Amino acid sequence: METTEKAKLYVGGKEIELPVIVGTEGEKAIEMSQFRKQTGYVTLDRSLMNTAVCQSSITFVDGERGILRYRGYPVEELVKSNSFVDVAYLLVHGDLPTPEIKKDFSHLLNINSLMHEDMRHFFDRLPRGAHPMHILSTMINALAVFYPNVDQLSMDEDIKISTARLISTVRTMAAFAYKKSIGEPVVYPRIDLSYCANFLNMMFDSPVLPYRISEDAVRILNVLLILHADHEQNCSTTTVRTIGSAQVNLYATISAGISALSGPLHGGANQQVVEMLRTIEREGSIEKYFERVKNHNDPTKLMGFGHRVYKTFDPRAKIIKEECHKFLNKMNINDPLLEVAREVEKAALNDEYFVKRNLYPNVDFYSGIVYRALGIPENMFTVMFALARLPGWIAHWREMIGMETKIVRPRQIYVGKTIRHT
Ligand code: SDX
Repeated sequence: METTEKAKLYVGGKEIELPVIVGTEGEKAIEMSQFRKQTGYVTLDRSLMNTAVCQSSITFVDGERGILRYRGYPVEELVKSNSFVDVAYLLVHGDLPTPEIKKDFSHLLNINSLMHEDMRHFFDRLPRGAHPMHILSTMINALAVFYPNVDQLSMDEDIKISTARLISTVRTMAAFAYKKSIGEPVVYPRIDLSYCANFLNMMFDSPVLPYRISEDAVRILNVLLILHADHEQNCSTTTVRTIGSAQVNLYATISAGISALSGPLHGGANQQVVEMLRTIEREGSIEKYFERVKNHNDPTKLMGFGHRVYKTFDPRAKIIKEECHKFLNKMNINDPLLEVAREVEKAALNDEYFVKRNLYPNVDFYSGIVYRALGIPENMFTVMFALARLPGWIAHWREMIGMETKIVRPRQIYVGKTIRHT
């Protein structure tokens, strides 16, 4: 919303005034749409660290106070009283579903949980060692070949069905990718199981060893998926909004989001955290690892620590740490890496190098320990992040197409050679 406040700028020998807008939580921005017209200048903000690329009503993050809310609801409350399907509906449609709406939405997810049978044979052609994130990105792109394209110009009904197909079928694809990687027959989704119970069953049920679905496992999976469901303009969501602005179909847009998320600095960090903890356990010294991290000539990072926005505890990390401890105790699982993680956290929080840089555990630091306890293999950890983030990506895509959005096309400052001739 515009305020009476103006930003006065003295540039190019003249003073200009720019409007200031304020968000519902008091964040302020200088509205720059007329800046180049008025001054002939552009702004340079590498990695967009100081730039808001849109106004959004979906998620609010306060990095200084460690606040995360979806459509106004604190995640601390949502994990206590809602399922991932409730939160997926909330993110996409703006409110929590009534019991009636929830029933219809769950039914829509169930009837769209099967992948086109011809797509199954794609898995047979993929090399066995292919990383599940690359398989997922490929298969989601392939949805555009099997189903009608959905983009800004599509009917609401088509967008609604494609939303359900992505949230539900991608879960089936992920489980199929896992089964294929271990050479076991795929397990189909069941109409009588909830979203998370279905996923666990598709992952771990087998004709010779029926999987017993544990309520504790279903509960903690709901918690993890809720906590990863959205996070405003993170790298992969900004990718989705950018690609979507070119009127690319929804499946290809989400496939691009998956690729962005697979990066080790983004969603790929949860797998790297476990590899880091194992290295520290093997070397038997946290200090030795920290020395590599502090050496600016060494690219080693403390994975699962630090965040572009959170300069205090990531609220998700706090919840996951607590839930992880409870779940492992309840299931009588003793994972030595949990102890290593706790020691690393304690050492980092008391080490000037990390404290001075406001580096705290982020969402990826403890999530891998929970996935291990659920029996999910490390190369599937980032796939779990992608399953969770789907409603967030789709919500942002739908918000973006609902606005008068121009194609995203930033400016640059050219620093190459001036004109020369052959
Ligand atoms: C996610 O954006 C989102 O919302 C993402 C996410 C979501 O839900 O979508 O929250 C999910 O991606 C979480 C982050 C997962 N990634 C990791 O855990 C990888 C390790 N973390 C870092 O790579 C890093 O902290 C980032 C990428 C997360 C943030 O990088 P920034 O904001 O660019 O940090 P920075 O480079 O400005 O850091 C400032 C200083 C630098 O040191 P100096 O140059 O000042 O000496 O802190 C250092 C950095 O080198 N630093 C780290 C570090 N993170 C930052 N040093 C060691 N280990 C780290 N992890």
